[in-house]
Order: sequence, then structure tokens, then C-alpha cells
Amino acid sequence: MNRTNTCGELRKSDSGKYVVLSGWVHKYRNLGGLIFLDLRDRYGITQVMFDPKNTADNVLKTADLCRNEYVVTVSGSVQIKPEPNKNLATGEIEIAADGIIIENESTTPPFNFLNGKSDAKEEVRLQYRYLDLRSEKMTSNLLVRHKVCMSIRNYLSEKGFIEIETPTFSKSTPEGARDYLVPSRLYPGQFFALPQSPQIYKQLLMVGGQDKYFQIARCYRDEDSRKDRQPEFTQIDIEKSFPTEEDIFSLTEGMFAALMNEAAGTEIKIPFERLSYKTAMEEYGVDKPDLRFGLKLKNITEATRNSGFSVFANAQCVKFLAVEGLENLSRKQIGEYEDYAKHLGGKGLAFIKLIGGKPDGGITKFLNEAEINAITSKAELSKDGIVFFAADSELISNKVLGALRNRLGDELNLYDRNVFKFCWIVDFPMFEFNPDENRWQAMHHMFTMPKVEFIENIEDDLAAVIGQLYDLVLNGVELASGSIRIHKSDYQKKIFKILGMNDAEIDNKFGFLLNAFKYGAPPHGGIAAGIDRIVQILCGEDSIREVMAFPKSKNQNCLMMNAPSEVDKSQLDELGIEVKKK
Ligand code: AMO
Ligand code: AMP
Repeated sequence: MNRTNTCGELRKSDSGKYVVLSGWVHKYRNLGGLIFLDLRDRYGITQVMFDPKNTADNVLKTADLCRNEYVVTVSGSVQIKPEPNKNLATGEIEIAADGIIIENESTTPPFNFLNGKSDAKEEVRLQYRYLDLRSEKMTSNLLVRHKVCMSIRNYLSEKGFIEIETPTFSKSTPEGARDYLVPSRLYPGQFFALPQSPQIYKQLLMVGGQDKYFQIARCYRDEDSRKDRQPEFTQIDIEKSFPTEEDIFSLTEGMFAALMNEAAGTEIKIPFERLSYKTAMEEYGVDKPDLRFGLKLKNITEATRNSGFSVFANAQCVKFLAVEGLENLSRKQIGEYEDYAKHLGGKGLAFIKLIGGKPDGGITKFLNEAEINAITSKAELSKDGIVFFAADSELISNKVLGALRNRLGDELNLYDRNVFKFCWIVDFPMFEFNPDENRWQAMHHMFTMPKVEFIENIEDDLAAVIGQLYDLVLNGVELASGSIRIHKSDYQKKIFKILGMNDAEIDNKFGFLLNAFKYGAPPHGGIAAGIDRIVQILCGEDSIREVMAFPKSKNQNCLMMNAPSEVDKSQLDELGIEVKKK
């Protein structure tokens, strides 16, 4: 028996048709001899009924053997149900079955599907991922992912971009994380590195005259997993020759408008809002602001420069967050936020309440009238509320209040969860100082071109140099990063040196790139967006693991295959590797 339809397909208009369906037994019931099977596949669920009055005994017996997750093929006629099941797309019909084949049995599954999801904790779901993937939720998430990828491919292909694959056995490409290394059997003691992104390859494709490239590319970074980070993840990677920053912006905006429409049925407004890095840090404390709500940070460093409250007077930077409607927050709740501030590296979280426009409690007694006026006028509260202060280095004040702002946004439901707020963050500094290593490092990566006005005298003031680089942020998540690249050998070498590399190191790590740039490298630039993060947001999930078929667990391992795992000694010997036990 070959299936004629899927389990999500049949409707009232099919009534009377004789059909064959195959799928998994989602639910089995025997109501006094009347057997019901809910048959499930990727497309949906259809109810199948075996009525002892019209069904041969051997068919009934076989139907009665079915249990959850058995794979069966059934045949019968489509009939209209007397009472439709409104929860199912196929709920107006059922199959009056007259035949059944059990294709395969199933051991009792380790979890059930409840409301379309597996009712087990994540570790168990990951161990039995092949079962978890049968859930409506995972099936639907993978479908959204497919639609996102198809939309991207169609859009970019129509714009003249071609998809070119680049190797996964590569040389270390510095994107800021640790590399995964692959030992070479033929060159003992030597290693390939898995690419952290196809960055250098895509630049070399531009040198190779390929003009407009894209790739749905797997990237590998050995860094701690988080909800939005996996050691292995996927980018939509794009590069173009002779671009301006504006070209990349409009190309990316068009791509997102198309994919939001095609994968989520949502119209979004383009062009996206743009914020400079400086404004984002000043007003939101982070370089990936969630613009679905206001609650901006305010700066009162100047107004409190000579404060009688020494915490303020002595701080490099004093900022606050004024929150409406929290005037009744208890001492205990305030203490929780204070602990949160300390956990983030702050020294405390001073507060005052503003009631009827007047300060109340907290540090009120330490502040003079001018300071109170500065606070109330900047707070711009339209009703009573509370003001939280962070007095510290600019870095820590922003870190504490930026994180508190996001936390309050969630806790107070300050935004509509169905809204998509995209924004570009532009005018990033090229370099940031790493005090631990006492050296300058690239803010994005070391192939970025500075803004034209900084090219000439770049070394004069590294902290002031703005790069031709940009991030795309959606609802507080960094979705994409990109830049216009350096395409001249000498200038790239100069940047490597600024970043602390000596001639030998440059030659060893990047000699091939500098050489390539000597053969007429065109100006080029591009962007890469994290596909997992895009799909996560579209699916309303809180972790990218929910939108990957086979993700690694929180602890960076594969619970299903039990990887990583030890390998045979003979394999190690072949590679010339000896493992030191920790
Ligand atoms: P970047 O390192 O910013 O840029 O990465 C681009 C985007 O990839 C996603 N991303 C991740 N997603 C899941 N897990 C991870 N561990 C992870 N790391 C990054 C993010 C991020 O915005 N070659 C440059 C791009 C360029 O300059 O064109 C690059 O890789 O969404
Ligand atoms: P203290 O004088 O240390 O008791 O602090 C008084 C209040 O100021 C407490 O609410 C502290 O949490 C807060 N506080 C202390 N240091 C800082 C700081 N650097 N920034 C913000 N608040 C602080």
C-alpha cells in the first residue's frame, strides 16, 4: 500500500475518497471495541477509526496491537465527523479504516508529546533528539528555518549573488574565539583549523573576481555555549566587490524584508533605523539595544561632580534609569536588583523614589536641590516611580544599567512580544583596548577599513578611529556584523602591526593574504548574519538550540551520539598524538 495523502491534508471536500495514509501512532484509544488511532506525520494529524461493525477481525486485531509511535499504514474512506475537532486542521474528517499494516513497532518512548511539545527536560530531549524532532514544535521550527534559507537563497540569487562553498579544513581565521583543530595524518604535528567564519575565503573570492558571493556557511568557534551561542552554527555570509556601506545596508534590508515576509508572513518597515555606537552606549548602555521599549539611560555626571554624596562625586560616570510605576518596590526587591548590579561588576545600586514629583527614601538625604532638579528633569516621569543609579567607570555604569534595563523590560512587560524592531548600529570604533593583555585589539576583526578621514593618520589616536563597520540588531539580539574591508597589502600589514603582530607572525599567519592583495585586489565588503538567531526570534524561542536539528547541549557535547568520545589508540598513533590525561 502506497500512501495517497499526508496526515495533514484531508478536508471535508475529500469526503467519500478512498485513501491510504502512513505515519506514527500519536494516540491510541479503544472505546468498547471501537478503535481510534491518531495518525501523525510531519504535515499533521488525522483521526483513523476502526469500527467492529464494518472491519474484518484480523484488521481489528492488528489495530488493537498499535501503541504510541508505532509506524503504520492504513486504508479507508474519508468521512465527515459528526462533531468536528477544532484543534486539528483535519478535524472535520476521519478515516473509516478497513485495512492496516504495522510497518514497525516502537519501544515505549521516553517522553510524550503534550500540546505539540515533548514533555521532558532538555537533556532527555537531546539524548533522543530523533524522537523530539517528531514534535509539532520542532517540525514547525525546522520548516521556518528552511523557509528562511530558501528566501535568502532566492533573494540573493536574484540580485546576482552566487553561492560558493568554502573549505572547512582551513587555517586559523581570527574572529576572537578559540579554534577547533583537526590533526593532519600526512603532516604529523600539524593541524588544520575549522573556520570561525569564511571571512578570509570570501575576501579571496573577491580577489578571484567573483564579485557577488554568498554562502549558507557553517562556522566553528570554541567558546562557552550560551542560549544564543553554539560551538557550531550557521551564517548567511555575503561579500561584494566595489561596495559602499549603503549598498550593504540596502541589500541586507531587502533580504530581511523578504525573509520576514516569506518565513513569518510579517511586513517590516525598511530602511531600518540607525544609531551610532556612541548613542547606543549612551542611551541604552549596550551596543545591541532592544528598541521595542524606551527606558533610556540618563547621564548626570556633570550635575553631581561636586556632590556631597561621595559615591557620585568620586565616580567617572553617574547614570540612572527612571522607571515609572515601581514606587512601591519593597526594600527586599530593591536589594535583589542591587545584588544583580554587584554581580555585573557594579559597586551598588543607589535609588530614590519619585512620588508626586518629590524624592523619597534611598539616597534622597545625600542629594541637594540642584541635584534633585537635574534628576527629576532628566527622568521625565509622567507618574510616580523609582530611579536607579550606577556610579562607576563609564564601562561598568553602562553594563549595569544596560542589563538592568533589559531585565526590567522583560519583568515589567514593557514591550509587545510580537513586534520586530531592527536597527543598524554604525560608526563603531575600529579598536578597543584590552587592559588584561595591555594591547589594542580589533573591535570587529582585523580586516576592517577605517572611515576615510582616519585612514591617513590612523596611529595618532587609536581610540578615536571609527571603522567602516556595522551591526544589525533585532529586538536586542546582534543578528549580523560586517564591514568594508582593507584591500591593500601595505595597509593591511600596518593594521596587523598596530594590533601587535610582528613581521614573522604576519608572514606566517597572513602572508598568503597580503600576497593576494598585491595582485589587483578590488575594494570589497560584506556582512554575515547568524541564521540560528534569526530563526530563533521568528519562532519565539529563547534558545538557538530549539531551531537546530542536532545542537550540542549546554555543556558543549552531543548527548545523542555521546560525542566527543575517546578514539582508538591506533587512530591516535596514526596521527602521532599522545593524550595526556588531566
Ligand atoms: P561575527 O563574528 O560578528 O562576524 O558573526 C556574525 C554573526 O554570526 C552570529 N554568531 C553566532 N551564532 C550562534 N552561535 C555563535 N557562537 C555565534 N557567533 C556569531 C551572530 C553574529 O552577528 N566574518 C564576520 C562577518 C563579516 O565581517 O562579514 C563574522 O563572522 O548573529
Ligand atoms: P553605602 O554608602 O555604601 O551604604 O551606599 C549607599 C547606597 O549607594 C546603597 O544603596 C548602595 O547600593 C549605593 N551605592 C554604593 N556604591 C555605588 C555605586 N558605585 N553606584 C551606585 N550605587 C552605589
